[in-house]
Amino acid sequence: MASTSGTSRRKVLLGGLTLGALGAAAYARPKIIGQNHKPYFKEMGEALDRARFAQPTLVLDKTLLEQNIAQLSKHIGSQFDYRIVAKSLPSIPLLETVMKGAGTQRLMLFHQPFLNQVAQQIPQADVLMGKPLPVASAENFYRALSKDSNFDHASQLQWLLDTPTRVRQYQSLAQRLGITMQINIELDVGLHRGGVNQADELREILSVIEAGPALSLSGFMGYEPHVAKLPGDKLASRDKAMKVYSEMLAVAREVTGRNLDELTLNGAGSPTYRLYNNAAVPLNELSAGSCLVKPSDFDTPELADHRPAAFIATPVIKALDHLELPGPAGVGKLMTLWNPNRQKTFFTYGGYWKANAASPEGLSLNPLFGRSSNQEMYNGSQRIDLKADDWVFLRPTQSESVFLQFGEIAVYEHGEIVDRWPVLSETLGAA
Ligand SMILES: Cc1ncc(COP(=O)(O)O)c(C=O)c1O
Repeated sequence: MASTSGTSRRKVLLGGLTLGALGAAAYARPKIIGQNHKPYFKEMGEALDRARFAQPTLVLDKTLLEQNIAQLSKHIGSQFDYRIVAKSLPSIPLLETVMKGAGTQRLMLFHQPFLNQVAQQIPQADVLMGKPLPVASAENFYRALSKDSNFDHASQLQWLLDTPTRVRQYQSLAQRLGITMQINIELDVGLHRGGVNQADELREILSVIEAGPALSLSGFMGYEPHVAKLPGDKLASRDKAMKVYSEMLAVAREVTGRNLDELTLNGAGSPTYRLYNNAAVPLNELSAGSCLVKPSDFDTPELADHRPAAFIATPVIKALDHLELPGPAGVGKLMTLWNPNRQKTFFTYGGYWKANAASPEGLSLNPLFGRSSNQEMYNGSQRIDLKADDWVFLRPTQSESVFLQFGEIAVYEHGEIVDRWPVLSETLGAA
């Protein structure tokens, strides 16, 4: 008797456990999702077809770009000048559009070939370099600058420098070329990506700059994206960064005996530019670029009223109504049984970009198949009706490298592709 009741207790227990496990599995099993293109992407795809695009393409929504420019101009207001971060918008017509829309000639550049192209094609630009370049790179710029260029490097270009050694290198180059170079000093206001934060180092740099006519002090730059990322009160972090900035400026005022307010006092970037409204800070200009096209790395509360304006559109090369993987038969089927969002398979034309699928909604990369920049595998549920040659849209996570990968930008406005903007070349001018 005792053993019979023991067996049935065990049975009940096992049954309960099995049911529990099944229940937990059913709960953990992914729910079916997926949705065909909404009208926005459907219409964008039709416009690409009409314009005969048939390969991976970077599409820029000009209307949304202009809305973002208007938001930015409204927020920056009249307290600061605005400097466009060109690396995040790397195309001459795109930069010209932003310059016109935001009413600024100020650009921040990070790459010598881009600098030569800007000097040639936007000769009225006011340029601040955003990182210290090797002095050989600076020499390449002067060598590649056309003699009849209207770009006056002595008054329109500021080199960003960070150490006494580099300042001496630039001084020698300026002396050798018989020119004057404007020098903007990179400050470390808490990011700790280099730059000056010691008074003695700043004094040494300033003494080299002030020593002769080869170099002239044109300003300071303190970039502080950590302010938006660190936990805690962002305004307190901003104030901490600005305190370091002010302290360095005080040292510079003491050394030079000048007020320095007329110099370029640059700071901020897309993640932080919204934190400066009506704040008493040493800056007189703010930089930003990415927020005008808003890749997904910039989905932050501060940028909630900026809208994503750039997408990668790529054709489906192959559409399969099942999932089959190389290796042991049945693995694909098991994956599908477990996850209804792996029912279908789509191979896209190209892939492996810094971007995530945006439309149709519910596409995901297959974790077992791996990545491919030639034909990338996406899976989706039976709710997704993509066919070969249909478009998939991805949203870049960042713009600076992604924009350069497609040769040109397809400009989308009022339901049509209205223009093709070339992107900056990575090699032009590299002597
Ligand atoms: C010096 C500097 N300023 C500003 C920015 C901000 O650029 P974005 O607005 O595109 O994020 C960056 C980005 O790396 C930077 O390095």
